[in-house]
Amino acid sequence: MNLLEKTALVTGSGRGIGRAIALRLAQEGADLIINFFRNRAPAEATAEQIRAIGRRAIVVKANVGEIDGINSLFKAARDAYGRLDILVCNAASGYNRPALKQKPKGWEWTMNINARSVLFCAQQAVPLMQAQGGGHIVNISSPGSFRVLPDYIVVGASKAAIESLTRYLAVELAPHNIVVNAVSPGIVQTDALKHFDVLREGNVIPHAIEATPAGRLVSPEDVANVVNFLCSPAASMIRGQTILVDGGYTLPVFAVTP
Ligand SMILES: NC(=O)c1ccc[n+]([C@@H]2O[C@H](COP(=O)([O-])OP(=O)(O)OC[C@H]3O[C@@H](n4cnc5c(N)ncnc54)[C@H](OP(=O)(O)O)[C@@H]3O)[C@@H](O)[C@H]2O)c1
Repeated sequence: MNLLEKTALVTGSGRGIGRAIALRLAQEGADLIINFFRNRAPAEATAEQIRAIGRRAIVVKANVGEIDGINSLFKAARDAYGRLDILVCNAASGYNRPALKQKPKGWEWTMNINARSVLFCAQQAVPLMQAQGGGHIVNISSPGSFRVLPDYIVVGASKAAIESLTRYLAVELAPHNIVVNAVSPGIVQTDALKHFDVLREGNVIPHAIEATPAGRLVSPEDVANVVNFLCSPAASMIRGQTILVDGGYTLPVFAVTP
């Protein structure tokens, strides 16, 4: 257990990939701050699972798209534990629609929750990590930052911003012994997929499996394992990188047929 006595905050960790990350870090010994925005029940269930393996967990409702929400989330973390060693910026939302149907409100909503939160969560995390002599920040991106998915234009732009923020933070926070990286998962079957018309229709998932050299979709646990690695001393010389965890899906120019 690498993370005994450490504390980790994972945004959007009641369900989906964030939940798997929180559970993985707890398995390594960390105490957790579980954050949700709309769905309390899965967040409480995740916290119960963490307590069942002997680690502490608090549940905090906060909208990371609002600066006040970020401030209250970190206040709750400070009040509960008085320290922070790991921050995982995982929460995401978005207005999925074509470019010509996007509206300024959707741009602001998406950018603030997905990208602005990374910067202002980091600002809150740094003093807490400095007090421990350092820490780790991992931001969750998406291959939509550089590839083009239907209706994903604003989320894709927010993910490109996350990857840029990751590089800047990696350099600026290095003197504080804070290691910053990003993880970019391929298709993971979570509730997020319900918001994509293209995934509800047709055979996109079977085709995606067929086009993945590793032969299956990425699981939430695959992503969580890489986040855990990036928070370990073995990864301390990886800085500002976005690690693709997609089973090789984005590599071939043409789909590989077995
Ligand atoms: N699934 C994929 O195929 C895939 C692929 C590439 C990248 N990703 C990335 O992986 C991350 C997790 O995705 P997922 O598939 O697990 O998504 P998900 O199942 O839709 O879960 C989203 C999580 O974010 C939280 N959230 C949403 N808006 C929030 C806000 N304003 N403040 C705080 N929390 C908020 C949700 O909380 P509530 O439960 O309270 O709503 C939920 O816990 C995201 O960054 C996503 O872009 C996913």
